Amino acid sequence: MNKIPFGKPLINFKEKKIISSVLESGTLVHGSKSKEFEKEFKKYTGASDAISVSSCTAGMHLFYFTLNIGDGDEVIIPAQTHVATAHAVELSGAKPIFVDSEYPTGNINIDLIEKKITEKTKAITVVHYLGNPVDMNKLKLLSKKYKLFLLEDCALALGAKVGKKHVGLIGDAGFFSFYPVKHITTAEGGMIILNSKKYSKLLRKKKAFGYNKSLDQRLYPGLYDVDHLGFNYRMSELHAALGIVQLSKFKSFLKKRFYNFRYLERKIKDFKNISIIPNLDGKVNGSCYCFSILLSKKIAPKRFEIINFLKRNKIGSSIYYPHPVPRLKFYKKKYKINNKNYIIASAFSDRIICLPIGPHVSRKNLDFISYNLKKIITKIIQ
Ligand SMILES: Cc1ncc(COP(=O)(O)O)c(C=O)c1O
Repeated sequence: MNKIPFGKPLINFKEKKIISSVLESGTLVHGSKSKEFEKEFKKYTGASDAISVSSCTAGMHLFYFTLNIGDGDEVIIPAQTHVATAHAVELSGAKPIFVDSEYPTGNINIDLIEKKITEKTKAITVVHYLGNPVDMNKLKLLSKKYKLFLLEDCALALGAKVGKKHVGLIGDAGFFSFYPVKHITTAEGGMIILNSKKYSKLLRKKKAFGYNKSLDQRLYPGLYDVDHLGFNYRMSELHAALGIVQLSKFKSFLKKRFYNFRYLERKIKDFKNISIIPNLDGKVNGSCYCFSILLSKKIAPKRFEIINFLKRNKIGSSIYYPHPVPRLKFYKKKYKINNKNYIIASAFSDRIICLPIGPHVSRKNLDFISYNLKKIITKIIQ
C-alpha cells in the first residue's frame, strides 16, 4: 500500500496552467485574480462580501484591529483550538478568555460562556472544531443580549452549514484558512466572509497599509495618501489563482470527504475502546475535515504506540490540537492559568487521533486504515 498522508493537496495541470499564466502576465499583486477568487468565494458561501487575506490568522487579527478591539478588552474563545485563534486576540492587545469544550463535538461549551462575560468583553469568537458547526443560533441570542461581536473561526469548516447558512454568516464575520492540508489550498492564504458590507471598506483599507486609494482608484500611478494605520495582509495573485482553481473543484472534494467519512464510520463504529467524534451529527452539515477518534481512558496511555503503528504502515495521522491553548507554555505563564478548568478540552488533546479522509484517500485506503486500527487496538487490549 502506498503512503496515505493525513492531508494532501490535489494539484493538477489546471493549477500549473493558471500559475504560469499569472507569472507570464507580470501582475503578481493587485490584479484580477484576487478579485475573481473573492467573487467566487462570495458566491459559493452566499456572503455579502469576501475579502482575501494572507492567512486565517491575519484575517482575525485584521478584524480585531479594524474594530478597535485591543488593550483592556476581552475576547471569549474556546480552550480547544489552534493557537492562532488565541494569538490573533493577543496580537490585538486584548485578553483571550478561555472556555472549556463540550462532549462529543469538541466545540465550545455554550452553557459556560455567559458567566465569563464581563464589562470588558467585546467579542465571542467560536471555532467550528474539525468542521463541526457550533450552534450559532443559540450564540447569536447571547451575543445580541450583551451587544458583542460574534466571530467564527472557520479554518477547518469550508462547506459546513448551520441550517441552510454557510458557517461564518451567522456571526459578524467568518475566517477561513487555505493552508495545504485544508479543504482547498492556496499554499498559504485566508478569506474573511461578512454578512453585511458595514466593515468591508475599512477592512480592505487596513489590510493594505491604510492607503486612501486602491491601485485602480489612483489618479497617477504611485500617488496615494494614507488615512489609517494598516498591515500588509494582502493575498498575492499567485495564491488567489490557485484558490480559483481549487474552489472550482471543491464540490467534488467535499462529496468525497462525506463519502469517506461515512464509509470509515461504518467500518469502525463497533470497535471497542474508541468513540467517533461526529462530523455529520445525523445530518450532512459538517465539513468532514478528518475522521477523529477518542481513545478510552484505558487505552489513551498507548496513543503514541497506536500512532507509531499506523505510521509504520504508512498511514498518516494528526492531533487536533496537541494542547488546549491555556496549557501552552506562553499562555500558561502569561495568565497563570489553572488547567483544571479545561477538563474536556484536555481530554480531547490527550486522547484524540485524527485520520485522513480527504479526497486523496481511496476506499482501499480506508479498508487498510480500519484493518490496521483494529489490529493495533486488539493487540493493545490483550
Ligand atoms: C482553528 C484554526 N484557526 C486558525 C488556523 C490558522 O490558519 P492559518 O494558517 O491560515 O493562519 C488554524 C490552522 O490550522 C486552525 O486550525
